[in-house]
Amino acid sequence: MAVHLQTARLTLRDWRQDDHAPFAAMNADARVMEFFPETGRRQEFDDLAGRVKKSLTQNGFGLFAVEVRETKEFIGFTGFSRPSFEAFFTPAIEIGWRLKHSAWGQGYATEAARACLSHGFVDLGFEDVVSFTAVSNRRSIAVMERIGMTRDQKTFNHPDIAENHPLRPHVLYRMSNNTC
Ligand SMILES: CC(C)(COP(=O)(O)OP(=O)(O)OC[C@H]1O[C@@H](n2cnc3c(N)ncnc32)[C@H](O)[C@@H]1OP(=O)(O)O)[C@@H](O)C(=O)NCCC(=O)NCCS
Repeated sequence: MAVHLQTARLTLRDWRQDDHAPFAAMNADARVMEFFPETGRRQEFDDLAGRVKKSLTQNGFGLFAVEVRETKEFIGFTGFSRPSFEAFFTPAIEIGWRLKHSAWGQGYATEAARACLSHGFVDLGFEDVVSFTAVSNRRSIAVMERIGMTRDQKTFNHPDIAENHPLRPHVLYRMSNNTC
């Protein structure tokens, strides 16, 4: 990814080979994956490198690896993708985040997401950005609200998650260029 973003405490950058081990460890942590079912969305990230590359080629944007500036530690990812399923709000550009558990509770996701939103609206010319998660994912919903996204009245059932699965109902948040 040619573009790197810097915040007060973080660098958002292209992925490197040495991110793979901490990335795999993050994904193996049940606390981090609590709101992803065993099938479907969890598999979506198995080939993240390929996914990022494809997104960059096709769309010119993707998911940044997130690193703490002071320690150079890889702590997860934040960035943009296009939902691969059809719903009442697609096609859309989604902002998303995932951090290793030890990096939670320090405002890093919010800081990274704000930098991405600014990049998306100012540099990439996005008109609207959405974010969504399982209705019970309190921490992710709190990030959406802290960065100023607005909750859509409609919840939706994630089509890649089995019927009757407790993680199927999702909340949807939106932000428009003229509201940020
Ligand atoms: C979603 C996720 C990134 C949120 O992490 P988080 O640590 O709760 O969010 P932030 O990094 O924005 O940190 C906010 C917390 O840090 C605290 N904080 C400490 N220092 C702070 C600072 N300088 N600035 C802002 N907040 C700060 C805030 O008070 C808040 O604490 P609280 O949760 O006790 O209210 C994380 O839970 C995660 O990776 N989950 C698994 C993956 C996932 O579910 N992704 C979303 C799928 S759609």
